[in-house]
Amino acid sequence: MSDQIKVAFVGAGGMAQSHMGNLAAIEDVSIVGICDVSQERATEVAEKYSAAAYTEYRRMLDEVEIDALYVVVPPFAHEDAEVLAVRNGSHLFVEKPVVMNMDKGYEIAEAIDKAGVLSCVGYQLRLLDSVQRARRYLANRTLGMVTSHRWGGLPGAPWWRVMEQSGGQMHEQTTHQIDLMRYLGGEIVEVYARYSLRALGGVENLDIPDCQAAVFTYIDGAIGLVATSPMMRQGGGVSDLKFLVDDHILEWRVNGNTLMPDDDEEVTAEPQQTGTIDAAFIEAIRSGDSGPIPCSYRAGLQTSAVTLAANESARGGRPVAVPRV
Ligand SMILES: NC(=O)c1ccc[n+]([C@@H]2O[C@H](COP(=O)([O-])OP(=O)(O)OC[C@H]3O[C@@H](n4cnc5c(N)ncnc54)[C@H](O)[C@@H]3O)[C@@H](O)[C@H]2O)c1
Repeated sequence: MSDQIKVAFVGAGGMAQSHMGNLAAIEDVSIVGICDVSQERATEVAEKYSAAAYTEYRRMLDEVEIDALYVVVPPFAHEDAEVLAVRNGSHLFVEKPVVMNMDKGYEIAEAIDKAGVLSCVGYQLRLLDSVQRARRYLANRTLGMVTSHRWGGLPGAPWWRVMEQSGGQMHEQTTHQIDLMRYLGGEIVEVYARYSLRALGGVENLDIPDCQAAVFTYIDGAIGLVATSPMMRQGGGVSDLKFLVDDHILEWRVNGNTLMPDDDEEVTAEPQQTGTIDAAFIEAIRSGDSGPIPCSYRAGLQTSAVTLAANESARGGRPVAVPRV
């Protein structure tokens, strides 16, 4: 690998452009190819970075020499780009949630293992100092229960409100909370979910449930509860996690405060910084050491296994075992 790290993108939407901005600020990283099914968007964004524009990822992967591929597309659009790129020896960054069906995820995870490349999934909350402190705090304690609420508004992207395209809020958005429930609390082995459409039925083209609740069983018998909804169209909302450990409650909120009951230490609000995960991924590529990467593809796929099991449970009305990735 030359000193320059060459990166290409599949997807040039909102989140892809956020990663591009972060990467462009890192020395010796260049964005060389950008692919989007929208020709207009691919061309416009590629011009900004003096990159080649494509509408077909196969062609881009054939023509452009890269060290790393970012795949930042809606959940339904994960096709063969990941597998083709890693077979060529490219490192891989994939935005959450990594797939809509587990078979595709296993195929990609196996291709990554076989190629021996680095992989990273965009669960950037894992890198927050408050999350790292919570992880240390929870490590030596007995976890009883975890609860999480994510009640917020309806994102504008048309694909987000279509179940077959996004997988619904539990899979698409609340995946961040569920990933932290795993990262901080341990493996989830079973899920029972109930979903309902209550207030957003009149929204055009919407077929996702707007109220989703799930009960999780952890491998050691601890219990988790998640309640999520995009019903709050006038703004406001909540995004929190509470861990009941021994006789303490550890509370964590996005952009809020974390209370560490053992030493009464309060961590002040930390803004989410997506740039840190890009910097970590590039640092790992440079050093050849996966250490800085907070979440590998396999670890990210395990979080999707939980949310896809929740969707299956809600469809079938029964508890569903979460497959071990
Ligand atoms: N980590 C985070 O905090 C975070 C935040 C926002 C979004 N995301 C994730 O990023 C992904 C993209 O979200 P977004 O907000 O950028 O969506 P978006 O709608 O803004 O952009 C998606 C882009 O993908 C393109 N696209 C669709 N299918 C494609 C295909 N087959 N090949 C190439 N391009 C294709 C669309 O034309 C669009 O430009 C989602 O999985 C989302 O969950 C993560």
